Amino acid sequence: MLSDNFGRQFEYLRLSITDACNFRCNYCLPDGYDCDSSREFLSLAELQTLVQAFAKLGMKKIRLTGGEPGLRKDLTDIIALCKQTPGIEQVALTTNGFNLKRNIDAWHQAGLSALNVSADSLDSRLFATITGHQKLENILAGIERAQQLGIERIKMNAVLLKQFNYHQLEQYLAWIKEREVTIRFIELMEIGDNKAFFRENHVSGDLIKQHLLANGWQQKIKHKLAGPAQEFYHPEFKGELGLIMPYSKDFCHSCNRLRMSAKGQLHLCLFGDNGIDIRPWLTANDINGTCEAIQAAMENKVATHLLHDNIVGSTKNLAMLGG
Ligand code: GTP
Ligand code: 5AD
Ligand code: SF4
Repeated sequence: MLSDNFGRQFEYLRLSITDACNFRCNYCLPDGYDCDSSREFLSLAELQTLVQAFAKLGMKKIRLTGGEPGLRKDLTDIIALCKQTPGIEQVALTTNGFNLKRNIDAWHQAGLSALNVSADSLDSRLFATITGHQKLENILAGIERAQQLGIERIKMNAVLLKQFNYHQLEQYLAWIKEREVTIRFIELMEIGDNKAFFRENHVSGDLIKQHLLANGWQQKIKHKLAGPAQEFYHPEFKGELGLIMPYSKDFCHSCNRLRMSAKGQLHLCLFGDNGIDIRPWLTANDINGTCEAIQAAMENKVATHLLHDNIVGSTKNLAMLGG
């Protein structure tokens, strides 16, 4: 299995397959998608070499991200390709859900085993204000269909924002009282494109955690390869909760993931990392060369991201790298 100089082990790849997005979330892409068409996204053949190499290095889980991965016409084929690669046990997808309802049956059939859908409000007008799209009902229907199909791990992501949806915390909790869905509250992260917005809207994850603990939610014990989220359950609720608190002191201790950009750069961290180009080996269909390049890169994985020092590096927005 891949490991780094800090004893962390990696069997989880976040694979971005496009940096394009059709939504305009006010904390992520307020001015729209900044298209750099100088290089194309990795092709199906290049993705196959990549996934085979990572599987050879012990990766067991692949999460497809974007931008919005649902914009790729070959998404179903990509899911199938990952699923059919020996060694890959779990294929997950993070999506804004715009075409979830229409495609979830096909994605499920191709082998999708876990699904994270963003829903930054459960009120359709506020949802449209935050994302620029009147899509909430359609997205919720897509989640319901995923449940009917028996996809076991379904999560809803929400970034709580002081001036927009923070007051809807209780509404989110009520929503999972009878639904077996996990909600992930993601603490707003400062990125290159949202500095003023961040100052006005950041809500500390710790504040949310204190609220949960005071209201009967109990923190789950993490297992070794669980990743950075803190997870909670409540005896009276069917759904569970997770908090992603990147500003908390120990967040990176449990880092269990590597990232690939849609154009073939390996990123060892979400922030403060310019990426290492491994595309030449992918284009040459050189699995061994890809493995060697990845292993050599692991030497450079740093202990923690640079957010604590207010350094976002080249990360202008998370659509660039799928979060
Ligand atoms: P799973 O455990 O696979 O469900 O992952 P997840 O909940 O992290 O997946 P998802 O794609 O829904 O990610 C939610 C968001 O959490 C990401 O887009 C990021 O914004 C944030 N996040 C996830 N992992 C990290 C990380 O390693 N560092 C930081 N700073 N943020 C992360
Ligand atoms: N801070 C926190 N979360 C973010 N996301 C995108 N940009 C940010 C940010 N600046 C989240 C989205 C989506 C996930 C993939 O990343 O809400 O749920
Ligand atoms: Fe919203 Fe995700 Fe698109 Fe960013 S990449 S605008 S968070 S849907």
